[in-house]
Amino acid sequence: MLFVDAKLTLLTIIPLPILAATIYVVNNLIDKRSDLIQKQVSALSTFIQEAFSGIRVIKAFGRQNDSARTFEKATHEYLKRSMKLTIVNSLFFPAILLLTGISTVVVVYVGGNDVINGTITYGTIVAFIFYLNRLTWPVASLGYVTSMILRAEASQRRINEFLKTKTDIISGKNIQKVLKGHIVFSNVHFTYPDSGIHALKNISFEIKEGSSLAILGSTGSGKSTIANLLCRLYDTTKGEIKIDGTDIKDFNIGNLRGQIGYVPQDVFLFSDTIKNNIAFGGIKLSEEEILRASKEADLYDNIKDFPDKFETILGERGITLSGGQKQRLSIARAIIREPKILILDDCLSAVDTKTENIILENLKRIMKDRTSVVISHRVSSVKLADYILVLEDGEVIERGTHEELMKLGKTYKELYQKQLTEEQKV
Ligand SMILES: Nc1ncnc2c1ncn2[C@@H]1O[C@H](COP(=O)(O)OP(=O)(O)OP(=O)(O)O)[C@@H](O)[C@H]1O
Ligand SMILES: [Mg+2]
Repeated sequence: MLFVDAKLTLLTIIPLPILAATIYVVNNLIDKRSDLIQKQVSALSTFIQEAFSGIRVIKAFGRQNDSARTFEKATHEYLKRSMKLTIVNSLFFPAILLLTGISTVVVVYVGGNDVINGTITYGTIVAFIFYLNRLTWPVASLGYVTSMILRAEASQRRINEFLKTKTDIISGKNIQKVLKGHIVFSNVHFTYPDSGIHALKNISFEIKEGSSLAILGSTGSGKSTIANLLCRLYDTTKGEIKIDGTDIKDFNIGNLRGQIGYVPQDVFLFSDTIKNNIAFGGIKLSEEEILRASKEADLYDNIKDFPDKFETILGERGITLSGGQKQRLSIARAIIREPKILILDDCLSAVDTKTENIILENLKRIMKDRTSVVISHRVSSVKLADYILVLEDGEVIERGTHEELMKLGKTYKELYQKQLTEEQKV
């Protein structure tokens, strides 16, 4: 173009940088608006998922209409954001055509004048229009590609955030061994990193191989926190935990957790068969083992009455079972793997005292030669343990055997008597 006519070239390429810049801006706009739409879609799906899984609560509180209204609002927001994107999108190609059109108009107008003046021929104009058409697309692509690179960079940054996140729970020496179950807590302090709550203060205790420890305490006193530390879901803030003389931080994490049977406070079941929910705790378990575990957790009598027995499908999070049945299933899942250390976090709270006693009796047999930690609000659950800790506000306020604590005549005894009279009333 330069060789043919320098002046005309200059005039025709003036709109092209504007074109590239426009495309860049428009693309960024599209990008931002798509991002807003993505966020709204994610908010919508979270809302729907929560509304369906919490449908019983919503209905029980009569909040259906409110819930529907909130959903409607969120959908409207989605509509609004989508419309905004559509408007920008619909301007994209017209804008390109307009700017390339301007160049063509300039060529025809200025070139036309030159032809009239006799400085150039018609052929030059035709050649220019051809050249221009071939030039437009690369320039448009330049803007397009630049914005794509920027978008990719932003996404990659977000992906890297996840890829580069490292867990703080790492193993020092990766020791793998068969546990015996001797647990020692020495001066353990723990502060939850996200809330800054000082949940455990200077906790020390020892559980000998094969013996049982019970932890009693009011709500929020730090009982579950001790269980979390034992499973190494968190690391202590200060102090150390040793199992069989080895610092818990030196164990291979998979190996350690594989030998601990943990019955968490919030039972989590999967929408699968009862059998698979029990066998979840171990690989390749035989029918007999599943049967035995369900009997030991005093669940078999219930399963027997279900039409599909062990093949009964549980609803989402085990919605088709009662609270006590869920807890017992969770216990069966933990004991089937014959763990060296068993942690029961308040897992008998939803069963009556009779069932509680049956399970505790069974557990005493199963846990012979294994270490167990029983966490509870109820004295009836803890009194059989070899050693009892009473926690309050993250501190141990009383410790000893049932007899010793009764003799001491403080918090434990008061609780015992209070709960005993309540039970008698029932
Ligand atoms: N994941 C967490 N993040 C931050 N703080 C937590 C977390 N879990 C518990 N806490 C706080 O730590 C303290 C001890 O909680 P913990 O769950 O150990 O109590 P608990 O004795 O098990 O109570 P409960 O009998 O009600 O189960 C509480 O004040 C609680 O608010
Ligand atoms: Mg708890």
